[in-house]
Amino acid sequence: MKRSFLLALFLVSGGLHAETPGQILQHYASEAGKTQPGFTASAQRGERLYRQAFSIAEGMPACTSCHTDAPTRTGQHAITGKRIQPLAVAANSERFTEPAKVEKWFGRNCREIIGRPCTASEKADFIAFMSEVR
Ligand code: HEC
Repeated sequence: MKRSFLLALFLVSGGLHAETPGQILQHYASEAGKTQPGFTASAQRGERLYRQAFSIAEGMPACTSCHTDAPTRTGQHAITGKRIQPLAVAANSERFTEPAKVEKWFGRNCREIIGRPCTASEKADFIAFMSEVR
């Protein structure tokens, strides 16, 4: 009895935070639409952002510096050497399912690599690319 209650609680609280990559993308896309009417996320633009060398942080010019040229592959942190699970949804079903985690890492990585926060449209494009890349 007690165990099933806890299980139910766990499922309910987990359900509050889990979303699909499509839902998280949609959230950023509608945010972007407020300033860019008719905005549609573009996987091509997302890929360009992913591969662009900003060369702000020493030893890690681009997103690819840690997440590799192929986001379907396991990455490696450019400084610490720690393994990073693939960013591509096709290779890692946990990606872009937790809004708080997505925000936290966009925040940290965009500031570090691009030198400023990513915009809502950049985040939508990035997730579009990560959702499509095989
Ligand atoms: C210095 C290494 C490094 C670089 C460069 C880097 N990242 Fe990451 N990124 C990480 C780490 C570490 C994590 C968290 C560990 C994990 O989720 O596997 C992460 C996770 C993420 C996540 C979380 C996705 C999810 O739902 O789990 C996003 C989004 C992300 N990075 C975007 C970017 C973008 C955009 C760039 C380029 C502007 C970038 N990263 C460059 C190290 C890096």
